[in-house]
Formats: sequence, structure tokens, C-alpha cells
Amino acid sequence: MANASTGSDVVLDVQDLRTFFFTKWGVVKAVDGVSFQLHRGETLGIVGESGCGKSVTSLSIMRLVPSPPGEIVGGRLMLENEDILQYSEHEMEDVRGAKIAMILQDPMTALNPVFNIDNQVGEALQIHKNASGRALKEQVIEMLRKVRIPAPEMRVRDYPHQFSGGMRQRVVGAIGISCDPVVLIADEPTTSLDATVQAQYLRLLKDLQDETGVAIIFITHDFGIVAKMCDRVAVMYAGKIVEQGDVRQIFNNPSHPYTEALINSVPKMEGKTEERLYSIPGQPPPLWDLPEGCSFAPRCPYVHERCIEYPPLVKVDKGQMAACWLRTDGKQG
Ligand SMILES: Nc1ncnc2c1ncn2[C@@H]1O[C@H](COP(=O)(O)OP(=O)(O)OP(=O)(O)O)[C@@H](O)[C@H]1O
Ligand SMILES: [Mg+2]
Repeated sequence: MANASTGSDVVLDVQDLRTFFFTKWGVVKAVDGVSFQLHRGETLGIVGESGCGKSVTSLSIMRLVPSPPGEIVGGRLMLENEDILQYSEHEMEDVRGAKIAMILQDPMTALNPVFNIDNQVGEALQIHKNASGRALKEQVIEMLRKVRIPAPEMRVRDYPHQFSGGMRQRVVGAIGISCDPVVLIADEPTTSLDATVQAQYLRLLKDLQDETGVAIIFITHDFGIVAKMCDRVAVMYAGKIVEQGDVRQIFNNPSHPYTEALINSVPKMEGKTEERLYSIPGQPPPLWDLPEGCSFAPRCPYVHERCIEYPPLVKVDKGQMAACWLRTDGKQG
């Protein structure tokens, strides 16, 4: 697997991405100045509580934000040095499913119940790789074999409802990697799976990554999964990245109070029950009515006067950045 800190093997460079929804409540700033880089062959986790903008970030990268009410109002999306934010819808059709693929949370919504597996896995290969006939069928079977569907020659004619939940998710994985993408976005891909099947699926994704070198953006609210899957992690809160860095740095030295709280809320086996189950007090603020200054301040145990101003994202260690006034002393501001 690629080491993010070596070389400039950046496949996706997201710069100051801003995606807003213009609703009757006001402007929902779902993604507000998000920047990160994704390196070839690495897995970047995006973590944060429900509603913080993880899915809208991935929909923005796919240029699939529902419009209206949504709009990408700013930023750059450099995919292999080309700004795909400038692409026409027609040009994007050649990118989606081919260079960037996406695996969604619920495989049943990603698979069409009225088509058999053969049709659905074959569709992207037909469109992007001009495959047809016998060659197409063989490629589909090969893809199913790659994602460990037993007896793929037989199962290829089946329909989604004839597969188990875990198998369906593996089929969605097969569709995702079928055209050999450079970026695979997996948005909570294991939420609907039970623990054992989830572990198998994560293992499978890792194996596929080792084989193909695909860079993965892994979206989750579960820090336990981040520890297993990711090389680097970006922590999102209320539409912004508040901290990013190497997984080890983030776990050993969380530098934003929100990251610290998220890590503390991973259930532990040792200690008394009440110590094992910690949850962050309060709720994230509504994205159309954010407090002035740091959005985490109302829930932060370390809040102080300075927090009425939004803190800049500053370097706290090599490759690690955090947006918290506690970290800016002597660095900026
Ligand atoms: N079509 C839409 N219209 C209006 N607001 C939207 C729309 N889609 C998303 N949002 C808002 O954008 C914000 C970010 O949503 P998003 O789906 O990215 O959250 P998330 O981090 O993926 O959460 P979860 O963990 O629950 O999937 C939310 O406040 C949500 O209400
Ligand atoms: Mg989501």
C-alpha cells in the first residue's frame, strides 16, 4: 500500500470544496471549504457524526449533488491533474463508474431488482470498456469470482433477491471495481451488514486494493472501522474538516477536541460499563444556522474566549493538521 507521506502520487486533490443547499430554512452549508488529497493506493477515512457532510462530499466528487436545491458553489476537484468541476455532464459520464466509482450503504438501492446480476455487473463494462458477447460474460464472471461469489458461472443469472445481504454488497463492490477505477468511494458500505460479514467485506476491499492499487475514500461514523481500514483520516464536523492526519497520529495524539471525543466514544472492553460507553454530549448545530466561530464550541470541554472566532487549520505534526485554538499558539493567529 502506498505511503501517503512519500512522493506526490496524488490521484485526487480536493481544494476548498463548497456545496450548499438552498432550502426554505436557509442556506445549508453541507460542505464548507473542504480540502484533502488522496494518494494512489491509499485509504482515506472520512469520519464524523450523522449530517456533518460526508455523503455530500462524496456526491460532490461524483458531481451527483441533487440540483436544485444543491449546488457546488466553489472549489476545485483535481482528478489526475484535471479539474473535473469544469467538466460538462457529458464528460462526467466518462468519469463516473470508470475513473471514480462509488459503493453505497444499502446494496438493495444500488442494485435494480428487475435485472439479473449479469446485466448489472456487465453494464459498466459495456459502457466504458465496449465489452460485449462472450468476452463480456467472462469478465462479469471473473469480477464475481474476485469478490468471492461462490459458483459465479451459475449465480450470474440470478436476481438480487436471490443473494444474501453480504453477497449483494460484494456484487456492488464488483460493479465498483469492474472498470478499474483510480478512486473508489465507499460510503458506509458495511452499515447494513452483521459483524462477521462486515469483517469479511472489509478484508475483501483491502485485498482488491492490494491487487488493483485503487485509492479508497472510506466514509464511516465508526472510528473502530477507521483503525482497521484506513491509512489516513479526515474528521468532519458541521461541513468542515477539523482535523486530518495519519491514522496512528490521530489515535495516539488527537489534536482536536472533537476527534478526542469521537475516539473516546469507541466502545472499550475494559472498565465499568459507564466508562466503556461514552457519548459526546449535545448535538451538532443545524448547518443553516451555525454558531459564530468554532462550530464545536457549544459542546467542547475546553471552550474559551478565543473560540468565538473560527480557528485556522494549522499543522500540528508532519502530515497532521487541526483547526483548534488550543493548537495554534505560536503557529498562527
Ligand atoms: N437534498 C438535500 N436537500 C437539503 N439538504 C440536504 C440534502 N442532502 C443533504 N442535505 C443536508 O446536508 C447535510 C449533510 O448531509 P450528508 O448526507 O452529507 O450527511 P452525512 O455526514 O453523510 O450523514 P450520515 O452519517 O447520516 O450519512 C445535512 O444537514 C443534510 O440535511
Ligand atoms: Mg451519509
